[in-house]
Amino acid sequence: MNIKHLLTEKTLAAFQQLGLTENVNAAVTQSTRPEFGDYQINGAMAAAKLLKTNPRQLAQQLLELLDIADMAESVEIAGPGFINVKLDKNWLASQLTTAATDSRLGVAVNPTPQTVVVDYSAPNLAKEMHVGHLRSTIIGDAVVRTLEFWGDTVIRQNHMGDWGTQFGMLIAHLEDKIAAGVDLETVALADLEDFYREAKKRFDDESGFADKSRDYVVKLQSGDAHCQKLWQMFIDTSIKHSNDVYQKLNVTLTNADIKPESAYNAMLQPIVAELVAKDIAVESQGALVVFLQELADKEGTPSPFIIQKTGGGFLYSTTDLAACQYRSHELAADRIIIFTDARQALHFKQVELVARKAGYLAERTAYDHCPFGTMMGEDGKPFKTRTGGTVKLAELLEEAVVRANAVLQDKVTDLSATEMAEIARKVGIGAVKYADLSKNRTSDYIFSWDAMLSFEGATAPYLQYAYTRVRSILRKAEVAADFHAEIVIGAEQEKLLAVKLLRFEETLQQVMKEAQPNLLCNYLYELASLYMTFYEACPILKEGVEPATRDSRLMLSIFSAKLLHKGLDLLGIEVMERM
Ligand code: ARG
Repeated sequence: MNIKHLLTEKTLAAFQQLGLTENVNAAVTQSTRPEFGDYQINGAMAAAKLLKTNPRQLAQQLLELLDIADMAESVEIAGPGFINVKLDKNWLASQLTTAATDSRLGVAVNPTPQTVVVDYSAPNLAKEMHVGHLRSTIIGDAVVRTLEFWGDTVIRQNHMGDWGTQFGMLIAHLEDKIAAGVDLETVALADLEDFYREAKKRFDDESGFADKSRDYVVKLQSGDAHCQKLWQMFIDTSIKHSNDVYQKLNVTLTNADIKPESAYNAMLQPIVAELVAKDIAVESQGALVVFLQELADKEGTPSPFIIQKTGGGFLYSTTDLAACQYRSHELAADRIIIFTDARQALHFKQVELVARKAGYLAERTAYDHCPFGTMMGEDGKPFKTRTGGTVKLAELLEEAVVRANAVLQDKVTDLSATEMAEIARKVGIGAVKYADLSKNRTSDYIFSWDAMLSFEGATAPYLQYAYTRVRSILRKAEVAADFHAEIVIGAEQEKLLAVKLLRFEETLQQVMKEAQPNLLCNYLYELASLYMTFYEACPILKEGVEPATRDSRLMLSIFSAKLLHKGLDLLGIEVMERM
């Protein structure tokens, strides 16, 4: 059920009767204020311009041709030519009665499934995941879950950074340890962070070590078996760490989704050769560079995109061109979505331009780099530990659970210790995720434990609590699993809830189009709030309530619970039956 879509079709049909078939836009929107009804049809204004007629008159003509008598209680022209539609309660009730028993909760089956490649998480290996990886991981995962529910074929790509120059440094350091008699198995890379720090210190301070490291990178990248064996140890350990984090975070990534930078190694030389042969790349100071006039600065100097360094090394950039080719041609992607922080925006603009010129990205493949802002501490500076270090993601998530437990101790009394631990885990992790997902993706946001763990306002605990409230009402009413009744809409609170319940698909469409899960977060928060208002105004189990009314209200409750559950599930946030 997509009311916006339905109104759009009806409006376009009316336009057609007026002889307007091309360049018309119905411009249907959800109304922002109750006095504008539930939906607005705004297309008359632009159409009037096209026809050089009076917009209010055109709106009037359109209104007369609009075939929406069954769905609208009233239709009104306002201002310069807006058409305000107030939906009919009986129509809403019958739509909702159908949607409430649908296993897809009223969301249509995708009529035109696409293949969508989603590149997310993508940590750089040899270090543990830190908070900087949180946003890409959970925003990407929410979008993936939504696309899959809608019915697209999603191919997850975890473009892990496993091939950079840091590996030369790590291998050099490990070689010295082995030479000093340390047993490889016991080194076991128990603490990757410490190992990395030691190696980095030697790289910066010890003469000769940097050169040795560079030699190892060359050896590694040209396939030296010994180097590859050591490198593999780092990779295996890092992947184990990230899998722990994915599991804690309830993220759907698995090892099968890993397509790391190293996987593209064999494609790099041919790509560079081809770009040179096609005169797309030229030599400049020993390096091979594509000069992009399209991204020139004010003085007209083109933007340089280096594809091979002096000395022959390939770069992050070269790998991304190979990834374009693989995803667009081999995976046959209709759309590629990449989540990284906003500082990489220029890089992906350059990649797209070069890949299109060279044909690595087919015309049919959309390329959407979706940037996000930085997570800030309460001091307004990038989020750090008290001593100024980077915050390990695994530790942050552990702290979230501990804090959630403390908050819950004050509120919950009658649960066993095991139940309590499980709830604290869901609330803690859910709180971190919702706090992040609910912010506009492109802006920076302030990380605040108190705000995210509050039971008031738009937070995971609020939504999880709302869900348990509805579930407890249903338990009290002893409704059977297959309970079914006709929905009847009387009170205004019932109507507002009904309209919201029928807007799930519209919300998901927006989330997928903009790759913005915050729209789903807002939707669920508003849904939960409308449910609470409805519940206060419309008694369900009180004595004296007509059975038909009670059953209808139970149906509204069942549907609300299902939607909250499904919506949170699409965000990767777990719910519980009680708390
Ligand atoms: N590893 C990169 C980083 O940590 C992100 C990779 C994103 N994907 C890509 N195709 N470049 O910043």
